[in-house]
Amino acid sequence: MNANIMNVDYTIKIPNNVNLAADRQVLKALEGWHPGYIDWWNDMGPEGFQQSLVYLRTAYSVDPRGWAKFDYVRMPDYRWGILLAPQEENRVIPFGEHYGEPAWQEVPGEHRAMLRRLIVIQGDTEPASVEQQRHLGKTAPSLYDMRNLFQVNVEEGRHLWAMVYLLQKYFGRDGREEADELLRRRSGDADSPRMLGAFNEKTPDWLSFFMFTYFTDRDGKMQLHSLAQSGFDPLSRTCRFMLTEEAHHMFVGETGITRVVQRTCGAMREAGIDDPTDVAKVRALGVIDLPTIQKKLNLHYSLSLDLFGSEVSTNAANAFNAGIKGRYRETQIEDDHRLQNSTYPVLKLVEGEIKPVDEPALTALNMRLRDDYTQDCVKGMLRWNKVISTAGYDYRLTLPHVAFHRDIGEFKDVHATPDGILIDDATWAKRRDEWLPSTSDGDFITSLMTPVTEIGEFAPWISPPKVGIDNKPGDFEYVKIES
Ligand SMILES: [Fe+2]
Ligand SMILES: [Fe+2]
Repeated sequence: MNANIMNVDYTIKIPNNVNLAADRQVLKALEGWHPGYIDWWNDMGPEGFQQSLVYLRTAYSVDPRGWAKFDYVRMPDYRWGILLAPQEENRVIPFGEHYGEPAWQEVPGEHRAMLRRLIVIQGDTEPASVEQQRHLGKTAPSLYDMRNLFQVNVEEGRHLWAMVYLLQKYFGRDGREEADELLRRRSGDADSPRMLGAFNEKTPDWLSFFMFTYFTDRDGKMQLHSLAQSGFDPLSRTCRFMLTEEAHHMFVGETGITRVVQRTCGAMREAGIDDPTDVAKVRALGVIDLPTIQKKLNLHYSLSLDLFGSEVSTNAANAFNAGIKGRYRETQIEDDHRLQNSTYPVLKLVEGEIKPVDEPALTALNMRLRDDYTQDCVKGMLRWNKVISTAGYDYRLTLPHVAFHRDIGEFKDVHATPDGILIDDATWAKRRDEWLPSTSDGDFITSLMTPVTEIGEFAPWISPPKVGIDNKPGDFEYVKIES
């Protein structure tokens, strides 16, 4: 492996391991884009903490054994860089019509538009989540959590850089225009919203943030995995390195929810509450009751399912055929990697009933990726439920049925319960608040969101983490707010 690739050049304004110094045109384009990015970060990034010193990790290498170093940084000074995983020698396209051919180092002309669109969609989600989370610093339950939020935010910013690099290097003038558009759209904006639904929703409180990083960042993981399989090698390498960072985002979500559940169960035990569904009694303890956690989970899981698109999709088939977007762990799947003759079961609405129907595997790729996603989601659920059962409660958090609360795909025009029973509009309207967070649920959670900024202290609705970031002790000052 060559040292240039492993180590990042920090001598120029934009840290990189792609030898930007010798790539004048792209360097110029990126330098031209930089001030707009900083303006965007200052306007739309974490509100109120831009001058604070935050204990952040910055990538200095793409070596998986040690790629980050930790230090205090003011977020606007974070070194957002262009980092690609090392090039694999003799890599071939692992699926589709070009299966077995050498991976492309340049954009294949015939697939240019499709490739650009996929990169733009991925790129659009990155700044969107920063925008969605920009108010959360002010209600952080601890400095530890605040630091994790900001770490996620700066890395989503870097992911935007990653996509912008691809656009500017490989897509000429329209790539540069798309790069500018990525800074122009705004999450939730009526006139120019972000491209995907879940990225225009609010992230109003910290439970939402943890659900978002658990469920929505995990959609990101699945998308990045499929793009990491891409025959377009620069995209593959970009996504492979992004996945290294993404793991921490999902860790924040998984452990965040674990800690909330832990605190709730602990408080219920201390107060001698035997019925976890006695919402009023539990809330009186100043912790978030399990039924409300379940509602938040229902919301974020269903919003995230929508991100996979329609179950049956010719776009997905085309992207696969073209060698642009593969399956989750494509290279580990044992089949012909062309899928010309195979089928895949898709849950569909057939004469008013939800049934699996065999569809051509090629057009069912979104469904398959979504199934892989669901399996991946289950792992964390097991951990949360373990906390609940260990505390002696007979209550289980569950993923709602895929027909529940959907805006995209097969079930967008029907209503279903979290168990997947189809119901009519009136029943939905009457019972919606049993399954999704109501205004009063939101108000209650908001009432708990008072900031805790004393070193080593935590808000009473969440347990401290088991270990600190970078092995720091419990009384470590993760954010120096007044700096
Ligand atoms: Fe990201
Ligand atoms: Fe992420």
